Amino acid sequence: MNRLSTRIGIITIAALAASLGLVLTIELGVHRKMVHEQVLDRYKPFIKQIERTLFMSMKYSGKASFDEILGEIAGTYGVEYIALTDIEGNRLHSAGRTETYETTTGPASRSAPGLYRKLAGSPEKIALEPAGQERIVLRKALSNNESCKSCHAEHIPRAFLEAVVNTTTVSDEKGRETALLAMLLIVQACVFCVMWLFVHRWLLQPLKKFVATIDTVATGKMSERAEVPRIEELATVAHHFNGMLDELEKAREAVQRQYSQSMARVERLATVGQMAASATHELKNLVGAVAGGLELLERLPELRNHKELLDELRNVTNRLLDSARQLLDFSKPVTPVEGPQNVNDCIMSVIGFLGPRARKKGIEMKAELEQALPEARADMHQLQQVLLNLILNAMQAMADGGTIRISSRLEDGRVIVSVEDDGLGMDDDVRQKVFEPFFTTRKDGTGLGLPIAKQMVEAVGGSLALASEPGRGTTVTIALQVWPQKVPDLQQERVA
Ligand SMILES: Nc1ncnc2c1ncn2[C@@H]1O[C@H](COP(=O)(O)OP(=O)(O)O)[C@@H](O)[C@H]1O
Ligand SMILES: [Mg+2]
Repeated sequence: MNRLSTRIGIITIAALAASLGLVLTIELGVHRKMVHEQVLDRYKPFIKQIERTLFMSMKYSGKASFDEILGEIAGTYGVEYIALTDIEGNRLHSAGRTETYETTTGPASRSAPGLYRKLAGSPEKIALEPAGQERIVLRKALSNNESCKSCHAEHIPRAFLEAVVNTTTVSDEKGRETALLAMLLIVQACVFCVMWLFVHRWLLQPLKKFVATIDTVATGKMSERAEVPRIEELATVAHHFNGMLDELEKAREAVQRQYSQSMARVERLATVGQMAASATHELKNLVGAVAGGLELLERLPELRNHKELLDELRNVTNRLLDSARQLLDFSKPVTPVEGPQNVNDCIMSVIGFLGPRARKKGIEMKAELEQALPEARADMHQLQQVLLNLILNAMQAMADGGTIRISSRLEDGRVIVSVEDDGLGMDDDVRQKVFEPFFTTRKDGTGLGLPIAKQMVEAVGGSLALASEPGRGTTVTIALQVWPQKVPDLQQERVA
């Protein structure tokens, strides 16, 4: 029932049935009117003659011979049945087939005495009424003329003439009518078939093909395209659909290309990471041995004059050990000890630690902390390490001194910490690579500070983002989850 084809079929059949019914009704009405007119034409003179004959016989031979007179006239005019009735429709005199009277005029006439009264009021009128199959009954009030007045006191007619005529003798239109209707029916059936064919060819078939295309596309065959039908509206839909598929295909190709590029990079980095981890392990042991050897050498009296050289060598080995340790940290999965952390305390401890070094380089460190900050989900040591890395990076980018602004605030239900410097900044090329392990622009850099920081923040469900402009500075923003997940009433107090 919900199928378009079924609905169109039902609507078409209903429309055809309604139009057929209408045509039939109109045809029948016209036919009836035509037959009535023919009957009137033919029987008007007959009625007149009857009236005249009745007056004559009334005048010269009395009522006794009425039945005979009626019979004679009926025979001449081919009337099936003829009668004189009283005002109630009761038969007074009759001739012809009386059974016709019983089945046609009798009961119907008597149930409608109003009709007789109406006819009495208009003596010229002849009323016609269908009476069973192919029969018409004519009724007329007998008009009283001057000669009647001698016997009938009243001027009002007291008798009615009733005649039943067979319409087949009057009109042979019926047969023609039936043939016409049959033809009409056939024509309508043909129209229906043609309409159905067009609907099927122009609407249903293209729709079926369209659905089949959608099904094929749904299975993943994106190269499939919908056939464009001739009907304008459907063609527009097909065009839009095909356009959408073109766009989708392009987007899918782009995503696939990007995906395979990133996968290749990830794989390469994973391999490099593994190699680096094992090489670093080896390196750490070797550098550890060199550091031990240096310690022994320092104790030898003959090398005391070379203290400066030994100090330098120790510094180098310590840096090498640091780098190795950092690299090993990075290659290990980060498993933080999560807990509620006061981010402001953490910031202040890192500032306290790095303060003297910054002052020496002419760098001012400003803390702008929101006092009523909720506790954040983090690992205290890792968060300190992250902040240390970020502030060190900022300091390294500010050879001529400047200001580092470290701030905390609550934003959109997250604890935000940002480290902003007005140092060198970085260009697009550098900015895109800073989170790649081992990417560094510094001579003594490891290229691991930012990747480690990002990894640590993400391990506690946070995120780290970086914005930078060459010559203007860099801002790194960390967003951490609130612990527990509720937002306290804030007093927007800030300390500088
Ligand atoms: N605040 C900053 N200002 C300018 N450049 C920065 C900043 N932080 C990081 N960078 C750039 O990102 C690179 C990678 O940083 P990082 O991962 O910490 O490694 P490293 O500090 O060992 O070089 C740096 O070499 C530097 O070029
Ligand atoms: Mg760094």
